Amino acid sequence: MIRIAIVVDNKGADGFAAEHGFALWLEADGRVILFDTGNQDALSINADKLNLDFTDLTDMVLSHGHYDHTGGIEAVLQKTSTLRVYLHQAAMQPRYSRRDGDARPVRMSAGAMKALWDLKDESIHWLTRPYKITDRIGITGPISRGTDYEDTGGAFFYDPWGERPDPIEDDNAVWVHTGNGLVICVGCSHAGIVNTIETVIEVTGETKIHTVIGGLHLLNASQQRLEQTAQALNSFDIGQLIACHCTGDEAFAYLEKRVNCKIMQGYAGFSMMI
Ligand SMILES: [Fe+2]
Ligand SMILES: [Fe+2]
Repeated sequence: MIRIAIVVDNKGADGFAAEHGFALWLEADGRVILFDTGNQDALSINADKLNLDFTDLTDMVLSHGHYDHTGGIEAVLQKTSTLRVYLHQAAMQPRYSRRDGDARPVRMSAGAMKALWDLKDESIHWLTRPYKITDRIGITGPISRGTDYEDTGGAFFYDPWGERPDPIEDDNAVWVHTGNGLVICVGCSHAGIVNTIETVIEVTGETKIHTVIGGLHLLNASQQRLEQTAQALNSFDIGQLIACHCTGDEAFAYLEKRVNCKIMQGYAGFSMMI
């Protein structure tokens, strides 16, 4: 049995904390995996509400290093340090988002970085290529950027002046074989959701997709990108799409009308068993 719960999202069920961020709890194949850690306090508050215990975790995967996916790292590592952590080295870089000439730091906090550096070397796995946690669970590692209509979804740079574009090469996704297609978990889909799905299909050799869950980062997407994304999604064999976090309400409304698969908006407190 596979259990999936959204612990942190921009939306929340009644009584759950909602914040700009994302975290997913995944129990499968004997592992207990936290995929991303939210932005601030929602991770701990909602984990309690869902009766999830950080000390049960065997693995923590960071989809990328943005603050809204790494904010709960210290809270988790204060409770347990026996888990394995998977991330790409670019997740630890300084990085900025620019808007109207102003730069805003969007890297993970210094506290989260320190908590990671304090782990033993053997507890950290640096993602440079696809990696299998078990026979049924894997991480893409860096995602190939094949489509010409997908970009990172924002003005992201390594420097505050906007001179060194940040391709967010640390962006990666987790996949799980259910026996009835794949579950694909994404954080922000900065590599593009279509690129992500194509990479997972290429790595696993499986084309049947049970569920795609996570942030699609289409909130700044052009009409053309939305159209091409919907078209591409319809070319895959997807059972359901659970759009979370940075998908954007307008983009969701557009996809809801255009995609053939079942589609819903995710929220903190949502759980499913497969
Ligand atoms: Fe995000
Ligand atoms: Fe992000």
